[in-house]
Formats: sequence, C-alpha cells, structure tokens
Amino acid sequence: MRKTGTENLEISLLLDAILKQYGYDFRNYSQASFKRRIKAFLNKKGVDLISELIPRLIHDKKFFESLLHTLTITVTEMFRDPPVYKAIREHIVPVLRTYPFIRIWHAGCATGEEVYSMAILLEQEGLYERSQIYATDINSDSLDTAKHGTYPISAIKKYTSNYHNAGGDKPLSEYYHSDSNSIIMSSDLKKNILFSPHNLVTDSVFGEMHLIICRNVLIYFNRTLQDRVLNLFCDSLVRKGFLCLGDKESLRFSNIADKFVTVGSREKLYQTKPSTRSSHFEAGAGAILSIHETAGVNRRKSRSTQ
Ligand SMILES: C[S@@+](CC[C@H](N)C(=O)[O-])C[C@H]1O[C@@H](n2cnc3c(N)ncnc32)[C@H](O)[C@@H]1O
Repeated sequence: MRKTGTENLEISLLLDAILKQYGYDFRNYSQASFKRRIKAFLNKKGVDLISELIPRLIHDKKFFESLLHTLTITVTEMFRDPPVYKAIREHIVPVLRTYPFIRIWHAGCATGEEVYSMAILLEQEGLYERSQIYATDINSDSLDTAKHGTYPISAIKKYTSNYHNAGGDKPLSEYYHSDSNSIIMSSDLKKNILFSPHNLVTDSVFGEMHLIICRNVLIYFNRTLQDRVLNLFCDSLVRKGFLCLGDKESLRFSNIADKFVTVGSREKLYQTKPSTRSSHFEAGAGAILSIHETAGVNRRKSRSTQ
C-alpha cells in the first residue's frame, strides 16, 4: 500500500510537469476526483506509479492528450435537467427579447448537446436569428463532436423526453436527421454557434454576454478556482446579465455572491445586480425580478395581450 504523502508528492510533480510543458494548470482541480481519474489512467495504461507518467508525458504529446481526455469528464445530454430550460424559457427569455442582439456563452460545453438545446429553445422563441452562441471547452475531441452535432441514436429517447419536459412542443425530430446509428443536428441550428477552445483556468474574459451557462464544471474545481472562474463570468456579463450553474453548484459561498441576485434557487439561475459593472450597458427590461416575481409579470403581460 503506497503512502498518501508520497502519492500527493507524485501528483504535485506531475501537475507541475504538465503546466511547464503544455501550459495546462490542473493544480486547483478538486483533489479527490482528480486522484481517482489519474488512477483510472494508470490502470488503463498498465503503469504502476504516478511518477512513471512524467517522462512519458513530457516527451509524448499524444500520451499527454490521452491523459487530458481522461482528466476531463464530458458527460452531458440534451435538455439536461429539464426544469432549468423551462425556467430559462419562462423567466430569462422575456428579458433576452428586449435586446436587439443576444450573446450567450456555454462554458464547458463538452460534446455540445446543451448548446443545441439552447439553439432549439431560441429558435422556438423566435430569437435564434438575432443570437450568437459561443460554446467553449478545454477538450478538443469533445469540441469536434460538438461541431459535427452527431450523437448516438440510442440517446434520442432520453433527449426527447427531456425536451418535452423542458416545455418543447414541436417534435424534436424537426431539428435533426438520422441514419441507422446516429442523429445529426440540423445545419440551420449550427449557423449562429461558434465552438472554440477556451480554458477557464488560464484564458480571459468573453465580453458583454447576456447569459452564461456553465453547468457541472465548477464541481471539479476547488474553492480558489471556483472563485476565479465566477469572477471571470461576472466580468463577462452585461449589467443584469444572467448566469446559470449546475445542480450541485452555487454562488452561495463565493466571493462574488453579493454581486448577484438569485432568480431561481433550484434552477441555479442568477442575475448580476445593476451596480456590478458600471461601465456596461444594461438589459432593456426594468428591475431584477425573482422567478416568483417574473411569473407575476408574465401572467399580467399575457392577460394584457389577450
Ligand atoms: C461534465 S461536463 C459538463 C457538460 C455540460 N455543461 C453539462 O452540464 O451537461 C464538464 C466539462 O467541463 C470541461 N472542462 C473541464 N475543465 C475545464 C476548463 N479548465 N476550461 C473549460 N472547460 C473545462 C470538460 O472538458 C467537460 O467537457
């Protein structure tokens, strides 16, 4: 049985080597799951010691890339957590509608399923033509899959059920075509999506976003890194811009919690306060409203348009 102290030393040396050789900084990823994934990689490669990986990684870029792909968990699905999309449709779309042009950033988009989900939602709300979606990830293989928008046909039952639970009414099949093994997302959905590499640890701000969606990414980071990334999002949002986090993630203990109001606590939807970034223009809509309050506004609006 190897001593934890020695193992931690090996991991620390490994992370330094990766940073120095390839510029990827994994030092602030959450240690427990990181260790599990490194061990899975050792097993896969038939290597005994973590430190044995170091010379191989330094000299063999392909070997490093295969470690990179083991270290990043890319599990995702279309309309994952349907109530979140329902809440976006009901409470954020009315605000997005007030902008002449809409910018949305999916950070950590993995293989792109949630990006196409958003594109479908915007298309149904008549907003897709004036939207630009930026979809980024650290994992280049995932981004390639995302760009193609080709997914196994076995997933479609689950995706269709999620889509309807998220408030989708037309058949989902209007947005893809299929062959015997796969579904291929429609090219119309792809035209306003820009997929590109972006590392949340080291890369900089994406300016003037109206909505940032970063779900199930922060759970892999420690508190220091979570704070760094949340500050990056805060600086990338317009005043009164929206942020959507994953089910197990929250702004609650972050050092920027006071810059946001909670729009939907269960759906992890937040909006920056008007004073957060004084240099930025703000939403066309008025005051910040919680889901409870916007539900009232929507009801009043629909009554007045009847
Ligand atoms: C579990 S997936 C989440 C996918 C999607 N957002 C969802 O909730 O279904 C986590 C993604 O975060 C990406 N990721 C991990 N570290 C990252 C970093 N430093 N910068 C950008 N993306 C990162 C991984 O490559 C992976 O695709």
